[in-house]
Amino acid sequence: MTRNRKVDRALALKGAYAVSLMLAGIAPAGAEGNPERGEKIASEGCARCHAISEAHRFSGIGSTPSFMMMVNFMGDWEERFQTFYARRPHFVHIRVEGIAPLTTLPSNAAIIELTLDDVDDLVAYARSLQDPDDTGEPAD
Ligand code: HEC
Repeated sequence: MTRNRKVDRALALKGAYAVSLMLAGIAPAGAEGNPERGEKIASEGCARCHAISEAHRFSGIGSTPSFMMMVNFMGDWEERFQTFYARRPHFVHIRVEGIAPLTTLPSNAAIIELTLDDVDDLVAYARSLQDPDDTGEPAD
């Protein structure tokens, strides 16, 4: 009993902390994102390299993994999406507000500026692409 109450209290505090961060405009990674906003950001900032939806399955750059492939076939897709801006090749051309650039090299592509909220929205959009029936084969 006591233990449960402690856990409840800890969870309540965690919630309050998350709310105060959100009020301060800082969404912790993993906060609930907005998938519609995420789709817009993805079509503006990610689609020139990635296929980001079924409708555009064959667009993007062939050697770049599609969002559908990642969310359906990579067990750790969520972590990859939450940290994509620190992963190759993105850290060269994607900047996230409040996070120091990971390189001083000049960008080889147009710089995309995002906030951590945008990243949460991208994660939420990616989640919406999960499809248990996706076999990885092109639909006919
Ligand atoms: C300039 C081209 C380009 C743009 C723009 C781009 N990506 Fe990528 N992305 C890549 C390539 C290439 C890879 C594969 C990297 C590899 O396999 O090492 C990749 C991999 C990823 C991965 C997997 C990372 C990993 O290490 O497993 C995620 C997640 C991702 N991209 C998300 C995004 C999101 C979200 C956006 C838009 C905000 C975006 N990318 C924009 C080229 C791009």
